Amino acid sequence: MSVSENGALIEVNSLKKYFPIKSGVLGREVARVHAVDDVTLSVPEGETLGLVGESGCGKSTLGRCVVRLLEPTGGDVVFEGRSIGKLGPRGMRPLRRQMQMIFQDPYASLNPRKRVGTIIGDPMRIHGIGDRKERKEKVEELLQKVGLSPEHYNRFPHEFSGGQRQRIGVARALALRPKLIVADEPVSALDVSIQAQMVNLLEELQDEFRLTYIFIAHDLGVVRHVSDRIAVMYLGKLVELSPAEELYSRPIMPYTEALLSAVPVPDPDLSDKRERIVLEGDVPSPIHPPSGCRFHPRCRYATDVCKQIEPPLVDYGNGHLAACHHPLNVDKETLARVRVSREAAACRGRYVAYRGRCRAQGDPVPIRRPQPPLRRGGEAARRRRRGDSVHGPAPGAGAGADGPRDRGAPADLGRPGQPRDRRTPLPLGRDRQVARAALAGQAPGTLTRPRGSSGLQARPDRLER
Ligand SMILES: Nc1ncnc2c1ncn2[C@@H]1O[C@H](COP(=O)(O)OP(=O)(O)OP(=O)(O)O)[C@@H](O)[C@H]1O
Ligand code: SF4
Ligand SMILES: [Mg+2]
Repeated sequence: MSVSENGALIEVNSLKKYFPIKSGVLGREVARVHAVDDVTLSVPEGETLGLVGESGCGKSTLGRCVVRLLEPTGGDVVFEGRSIGKLGPRGMRPLRRQMQMIFQDPYASLNPRKRVGTIIGDPMRIHGIGDRKERKEKVEELLQKVGLSPEHYNRFPHEFSGGQRQRIGVARALALRPKLIVADEPVSALDVSIQAQMVNLLEELQDEFRLTYIFIAHDLGVVRHVSDRIAVMYLGKLVELSPAEELYSRPIMPYTEALLSAVPVPDPDLSDKRERIVLEGDVPSPIHPPSGCRFHPRCRYATDVCKQIEPPLVDYGNGHLAACHHPLNVDKETLARVRVSREAAACRGRYVAYRGRCRAQGDPVPIRRPQPPLRRGGEAARRRRRGDSVHGPAPGAGAGADGPRDRGAPADLGRPGQPRDRRTPLPLGRDRQVARAALAGQAPGTLTRPRGSSGLQARPDRLER
């Protein structure tokens, strides 16, 4: 099986990554950086998913969790239908061949003490691919593929420019013929002409090797060019996910709108006409993210509900998902449809939470949601609930006895002078009281039965009399 049943090569389910902040002599955890918080998405085979967002929003952390360079705090990653979120190093080893990463920093990601041939050939050596000669041939072939020369085989990384180093990183990622490459800002350290070369190279390699990319970048122009779909992150959350062109023509989340307004337009007339949205305020701390919608302190459409309730990610059709209480560019019919499905989802969510609470407390789990007690109408039924006879109030029923709450009140129902701890007088209807008292030779209103018993019990003292 090469992909999971829904056609996804990789699925990320409610993924969380919190970095602990430790302090004091004992190094106790005092807070957590919520770098990635409950992100769910999937990437089909052969697709390029662009991942964008401000600096520090958790793009690299998400990418590293996907290839399991970081251990997620919660959630799961499913690769080819198999959960890899909890696999140890041994279990991960065969999968490392399938998932590779191009790192953000071309200067820091290459070992300065090793020659290029060793850097690119090492993954093959570790995974036992080919002998020395075969590996050398393969490395030279890869160097050519990424636009370098086989003569570069024996050089050290410091002898290359930034763009060339990034190519070495690409060659290393390709060495094991992976299925998935997480490219973490593969072009942001390069100048514009080299950026174009690199983007074209990645696209050619994708066609040749049937690669699936998660392409992380700041530059929305580059992302638009390479991506099939784009995911927008804000402060650890996935806030919008859309087919690439639709995101640019119809952003739904105000944060995406603001990001797109910052993309330069080559036409000066068009550029003058465009509204430039300047986000005010600082990016909030991922240690204490804002309540409700995390974007609310900077959003120009924010209302009270945004501060209190976190908006769920909902589908606005055509695979366009966004998390916003006041979505932009959505017609009335779609809004109405979304509202209904949101309410249904909220209802389901409450039921699931209730079941969870029952399980946690060890209570039986209800099959259906609890309903309020059914109240049958009619005066006779009300009287029955109260313990009155249908013909009149029960003896001792006080003026305030007005419903089930008052049933069993000691002042009304207890027999004067009789301790109530072991025997509980029952509120019988007047007719039944009279009939039973006649049988037992007692005055009405004084019959008792022990707790837990269904029948009357003869009292020895009275029998003797
Ligand atoms: N090892 C770590 N320990 C503690 N905090 C970390 C660690 N790595 C990342 N963070 C924090 O997690 C958050 C997300 O970082 P991340 O590198 O994923 O951001 P990013 O979106 O890739 O940013 P950029 O676009 O600048 O690369 C940041 O607030 C960062 O400070
Ligand atoms: S939910 Fe509210 S605060 Fe968040 S993006 Fe939408 S309008 Fe703005
Ligand atoms: Mg990063």
